[in-house]
Amino acid sequence: MTVERRFFVTTPIYYVNDLPHLGHAYTTVAADALARFMRLDGYRVKFLTGTDEHGQKVETSARAAGISPQEFADRISASFRAMAELLAISNDDFIRTTEPRHQRAVEALWKELERRGEIYLGRFSGWYSVRDEAFYGESELMDGKAPTGADVEWVEEENYFFRLSNWQDKLLAYYDANPEAIGPKSRRNEVVSFVKSGLNDLSISRTGFSWGIPVPGNPRHVMYVWLDALANYVSAIGYPDTHSPDFSTFWPADLHLVGKDILRFHAVYWPAFLMAAGLQPPRRVFAHGWWTVEGQKMSKSLGNFIPPRRLEATYGRDALRYFLLRELPFGSDGDFSHRAVVARLNGDLANDFGNLAQRALAMIHRNCSAEVPQPHGFSEEDEALLAAARGLLPALRPLMREQAFHLALETIWRVVAEANRYVDAMAPWALLQSDRKRMESVLYTLAEVIRRLAIIVQPFVPDAAGRLLDQLSVAPEARAFAALEESFLVAGTPLPKPQGVFPRFVAKKEAGTEGPC
Ligand code: MSP
Repeated sequence: MTVERRFFVTTPIYYVNDLPHLGHAYTTVAADALARFMRLDGYRVKFLTGTDEHGQKVETSARAAGISPQEFADRISASFRAMAELLAISNDDFIRTTEPRHQRAVEALWKELERRGEIYLGRFSGWYSVRDEAFYGESELMDGKAPTGADVEWVEEENYFFRLSNWQDKLLAYYDANPEAIGPKSRRNEVVSFVKSGLNDLSISRTGFSWGIPVPGNPRHVMYVWLDALANYVSAIGYPDTHSPDFSTFWPADLHLVGKDILRFHAVYWPAFLMAAGLQPPRRVFAHGWWTVEGQKMSKSLGNFIPPRRLEATYGRDALRYFLLRELPFGSDGDFSHRAVVARLNGDLANDFGNLAQRALAMIHRNCSAEVPQPHGFSEEDEALLAAARGLLPALRPLMREQAFHLALETIWRVVAEANRYVDAMAPWALLQSDRKRMESVLYTLAEVIRRLAIIVQPFVPDAAGRLLDQLSVAPEARAFAALEESFLVAGTPLPKPQGVFPRFVAKKEAGTEGPC
């Protein structure tokens, strides 16, 4: 049984060795905007996030904190859940790799790979980075460190291996047959050349520590944390029961959103594991760029990790969500600065959209007895603005499908700008004395355009959009995208007193409070 209009989107599951920061918030907010967009567009959506709790890195951090790895994982996992709540994340599930449903699935996946002859026991000797939880070849090292700058250690131990080398041709055929399988395009090319250059078998177990899922039949080994972690995407939908309603509806995933640093795991190892276990690879993996903070790489030693809680407290969650998705092309790197956030917040949100709505709704409240005004025919200018607003949804769909969030927002804000030009040109305040009917038509046009804008910005700024729709008396059931086709504001509908939905950011005077950076 497959449902046609369904959409399964995931974030990476976050390591519990660190508290949530801006980078985690980024992937999660992007996935949320997409999940909300697809839901509003009538899709049955599954949006999954969670925490990655096993591995040497977590074991070491727990030891340093003087508590058990499970207790440590419980604590940090809870802070990732709290981050999701704080940012209005609409995930349908939150998976933890220490849950029984996950362990059961990973064991089944291992056994299936073993049954199909994809796993063998061998001897590993090579470089391992605990920070990256990744193996590196001698030729990849730079000045004795991993290409990511992380320290590496020499590991020589008995390991289980996955026959990755067998999957080179099949992976290339999969990329070939699915041009959308990896985005953005530049990253796709990198992955393809990496696979073309030849694949070694992959070590998938470790023996030096114990915080992991034991290898079935040989509990001296724990599974490599990436095999364990990647499997979350299927364990959360019921694997190994591939006939379960969730699995049959939602697999293969429509989109794994990841940062560029973990693309290889998702676009090479994961599809190979899946194909080797007789499952379909994901439809698409998209790798976003990295944020620096005020020009510097975020790092513990520099002490410039920005907790999402602080950002939310300073700017509010709508502004933060908007900034993250508007400021950068989603695949590119960029810089997070207080100045840039305030410019977006006060410019795009408060001045452009906020003022438009506040001006129009306040005029209606004052001059149209607080009701949706009655239009008396539409002029060419009215029609042009209404048509621009009507054109938004069809323009946005392909952009969201490509994860071009910044272009989607730019497209919406072009209509905001057009509406602002329209207000200035029509000058409804001047019509109050000279042509009341015309004023009513102009204000109706504006209210209807604002309704459309508010519906369409819901995925990005859900709180403000909701408040705006309340102020237009739009019923909760008339807020899905279908309402863009089917309904219009009805003249005579009473409207509550309008209130600004995008307040300006005003820096506080005391030192250290003018921003989180
Ligand atoms: N646990 C693995 C993922 C397993 S998925 C099966 C992991 N976790 S992580 O917590 O280290 O990173 C999660 C995500 O945060 C990655 O997608 C990473 O790219 C992202 N970011 C971490 N720092 C970042 C920035 N400075 N900027 C943008 N995103 C960054 O990797």
